[in-house]
Amino acid sequence: MSFRLQPTAPARPNRCQLFGPGSRVALFEKMAASAADVINLDLEDSVAPSDKDSARQNVIQAIGDVDWGTKTLSVRINGLDTPYWYRDVVDLLEQADERLDQIMIPKVGCAADIYAVDALVTAIETAKGRSKKISFEVIIESAAGIAHVEEIAAASPRLQAMSLGAADFAASMGMQTTGIGGTQENYYMLHEGAKYWSDPWHWAQTAIVAACRTHGVLPVDGPFGDFSDDEGYIAQAKRSATLGMVGKWAIHPKQIALANEVFTPSEEQVNEAREILAAMEQAKANGEGATVYKGRLVDIASIKQAEVIVRQSEMING
Ligand code: COA
Ligand code: MG
Repeated sequence: MSFRLQPTAPARPNRCQLFGPGSRVALFEKMAASAADVINLDLEDSVAPSDKDSARQNVIQAIGDVDWGTKTLSVRINGLDTPYWYRDVVDLLEQADERLDQIMIPKVGCAADIYAVDALVTAIETAKGRSKKISFEVIIESAAGIAHVEEIAAASPRLQAMSLGAADFAASMGMQTTGIGGTQENYYMLHEGAKYWSDPWHWAQTAIVAACRTHGVLPVDGPFGDFSDDEGYIAQAKRSATLGMVGKWAIHPKQIALANEVFTPSEEQVNEAREILAAMEQAKANGEGATVYKGRLVDIASIKQAEVIVRQSEMING
């Protein structure tokens, strides 16, 4: 228990984060016209080393030129273990239009990684007189990242969101798979001869959600690689939403509608939440802390659960 109140995460929709390589300029207008809440222009792993400089310039140009509407506009910089990242930060902060909202830092392993980027960003913002403070999002995608997830979540007031990056995470952990998220063939239990598949991403997701909720950061599920498998994407997204994550990446435009559907509380869910709140109002009027709703117990904790759904729905609707 703690007497401190849990900080609230930023109240902005983050149901779908659409990625596109900074080297594919033709995609930028399509990304801006999409239904994704967050746009991630990538300078990292979808851009070949020979294209790093030109991709950076494409992205800087597009931040000012393209109409991004009300979307959260984020650029994924290169990792701190590369020779590219400082130039990404310096050029973005010195040259990009104030429309830029956020920088995504990949492969974060400890709080000092964020401190380093924060120091650089803060100095350039001050030197250039930028009026808008850039926010951060990070990707947990290494053994070190998950081992230090809580100190990372607490590392900077700029930090707004944290994603699980399944592919790099699996590689760093030495997991025997080439799959990016979803069901893994060899991760099953046996019961009376039948196989029951379990979820190898569950522990990392839950650790991320707990760290994020402790420090008022939005927990987000990362990529699902097989964009031909809608059912697989939906199943992964539903598990993430059930665990407390607010959204998921799209690495292809066909995944956007799937994410928006799963991470927008349904009318049915919202109605039920409102009915529970009404039932508890009635209970309170009767001097009771608990009552029965559709044959099951609801009590004061149920108010908080219902409020999560109602608040999420109200925030998304406007
Ligand atoms: N954002 C917006 N539009 C996109 C898009 C994206 N990320 N990826 C593809 N499209 C568009 C295509 O331009 C095409 O448009 P059109 O119908 O007007 O011609 C349409 O969606 C269908 O695209 P498709 O032909 O199926 O895909 P592709 O072969 O052009 O590209 C990928 C497939 C996976 C290479 C591409 O989607 C991609 O680069 N995704 C992001 C990868 C990334 O950023 N990874 C880093 C994070 S893990
Ligand atoms: Mg990665």
